Amino acid sequence: MWTSLGTMTESASSRAASGRFWAVVLGVATGLFLFGFLIGWFAKSAEKKTSVSPHEDIKAAFMAEMKAENIKQFLRNFTRLPHLAGTKENLHLAQQVQAEWKEFGLDSVELVHYDVLLSYPDDTKPNYISIIDEHGNEIFNTSLSEPPPPGYETIRDVVPPYSAFSAQGVPEGELVYVNYGRTEDFSKLEREMGINCTGKIVIARYGKIFRGNKVKNAELAGAKGLILYSDPADYCAPGTEPYPNGWNLPGGGAQRGNVLNLNGAGDPLTPGYPAKEYTYRLDKASGVGLPKIPVHPIGYHDAESLLRNMGGYAPPHNSWKGNLNVSYNVGPGFATNYSTRKVKMHIHSNNEVRRIYNVIGTIRGSVEPDRYVILGGHRDSWVFGGIDPQSGAAVVHEIVRSFGKLKRKGWRPRRTVKFASWDAEEFGLLGSTEWAEENAKVLQARGVAYINADSSIEGNYTLRVDCTPLLYRLVYSLTKEIPSPDEGFEGKSLYESWYKKNPSREYKEVPRINKLGSGNDFEVFFQRLGIASGRARYSKNWLDA
Ligand SMILES: *[C@@H]1O[C@H](CO)[C@@H](O)[C@H](O)[C@H]1NC(C)=O
Ligand SMILES: *[C@@H]1O[C@H](CO)[C@@H](O)[C@H](O)[C@H]1NC(C)=O
Ligand SMILES: *[C@@H]1O[C@H](CO)[C@@H](O)[C@H](O)[C@H]1NC(C)=O
Ligand SMILES: *[C@@H]1O[C@H](CO)[C@@H](O)[C@H](O)[C@H]1NC(C)=O
Ligand SMILES: *[C@@H]1O[C@H](CO)[C@@H](O)[C@H](O)[C@H]1NC(C)=O
Ligand SMILES: *[C@@H]1O[C@H](CO)[C@@H](O)[C@H](O)[C@H]1NC(C)=O
Ligand SMILES: [Zn+2]
Repeated sequence: MWTSLGTMTESASSRAASGRFWAVVLGVATGLFLFGFLIGWFAKSAEKKTSVSPHEDIKAAFMAEMKAENIKQFLRNFTRLPHLAGTKENLHLAQQVQAEWKEFGLDSVELVHYDVLLSYPDDTKPNYISIIDEHGNEIFNTSLSEPPPPGYETIRDVVPPYSAFSAQGVPEGELVYVNYGRTEDFSKLEREMGINCTGKIVIARYGKIFRGNKVKNAELAGAKGLILYSDPADYCAPGTEPYPNGWNLPGGGAQRGNVLNLNGAGDPLTPGYPAKEYTYRLDKASGVGLPKIPVHPIGYHDAESLLRNMGGYAPPHNSWKGNLNVSYNVGPGFATNYSTRKVKMHIHSNNEVRRIYNVIGTIRGSVEPDRYVILGGHRDSWVFGGIDPQSGAAVVHEIVRSFGKLKRKGWRPRRTVKFASWDAEEFGLLGSTEWAEENAKVLQARGVAYINADSSIEGNYTLRVDCTPLLYRLVYSLTKEIPSPDEGFEGKSLYESWYKKNPSREYKEVPRINKLGSGNDFEVFFQRLGIASGRARYSKNWLDA
């Protein structure tokens, strides 16, 4: 598809044309790419300039227009309530975003809906896991909800922790600890230790691989249920306390998430096609990627209770031990004195088709209106979405506001810019994938670049960029123009602090840029449609954590 893009063909043909291509992308993407994501960090020093003269560099005008204080207010506004996909709260937020993008001055802003398969706990039959004695009495139960953070005790409609799209069921059996639930973990158990997971309930810690793959591995091993938990070894950094005293995960906190194996299909019932009224649907039972066994997530306090009396084999390697005060014996089953006890899962979540809403805003390009640069991020969250996704959504909102402001002063981007607020990302990238499926032909012909804005601020250490190599030079040249927000780098560029804190391992004298993977809304644009894509965020120091 690259050759169908005029600019890309040119750029391949000569160095000079390549320079023009980057100049063009720069003109359109400058405001989006890093300026937007990093606004929280550079706005302070840019606040002096407030008016736009016709001769002023448009990049400087953007930097002057965007305000960290606005992003802060948008973030507060977007995180007042839960915005679970398929609920009225998230429709209301979509309508609010649509109204505000119009008010900001975009040329058009549409709500685009799809009817996709989603999954919710049953209000009347809670999901939980118990330890049962030889009479079947439930002598321990995992908690039904998370303790609310201070100040949020009265907010209703917080969905309890669950694994979206889990199969229903009440399996009981002996427990087997399977470390991270990777292929090599099951291989160790089955081939080297001779443990047969068939008919067992397995417990895996979160981390290393996508949770949907853990489910698939558990199914292949014959398990009849999967419990997922967050071990402090993977989810608590040294030197800080559990929230609210520090930023570590508290023992009652459990990770919600979908457990599909979609492989980019989007809505499980309409693979390859947009989930519109006219679309043929698979029946619910044969949807793409649906797990066949019950799955449920718990916090590390509950996990410690389940793992405390595990018997059977010792962990095969020290690397199988997390940081709970337990043996990490793998089982099967409990130790001698408790060997009549079993574990029982109670999972009653339902899959149902509900309507989701993307907000799509457009500002027409002045020179190449039929070339699209797309800036998108999701709006739906499991609960409040403080980092994921609303730190990204708040940044996009401020970028749209700034574009609108400049447009009112007579400016237009060279190319058309589309802004997207995606729905149901948490349920398998559904909103973005369905929209790309509906518009695949146009996007392949006209899409120049897709920039993703999910969690834009997750730490204050340094920049993290994942993008296709086509964008490296753009990223490097932009970061040289942005002042560093970091302590000790006053008067230096972002490029300099980024390079200092995270130099590339492969190339000398440039900061590290990561390869673009999957698992967020850029996936369909990059992996399926082949559009140059990138994402950027301010992040933690992962090396020290
Ligand atoms: C968010 O801001 C909008 C627009 O100002 C307002 O209508 C809405 O009530 C605010 N929502 C919350 C939860 O504060
Ligand atoms: C666990 O929950 C079941 C069902 O509500 C209840 O019968 C049982 O007493 C509970 N067990 C404990 C230890 O709370
Ligand atoms: C595991 O157990 C199941 C049922 O108990 C049995 O059918 C299967 O052959 C066993 N697998 C191995 C590798 O022993
Ligand atoms: C760890 O567990 C053992 C036995 O369950 C207990 O005696 C010990 O006090 C615990 N240690 C900590 C640090 O909690
Ligand atoms: C098992 O139970 C016996 C008898 O009640 C007791 O003496 C022994 O200490 C127990 N062992 C463990 C590991 O708890
Ligand atoms: C990040 O924030 C922490 C806590 O506010 C502060 O101590 C630290 O110096 C900040 N780091 C940078 C690089 O600004
Ligand atoms: Zn997200």
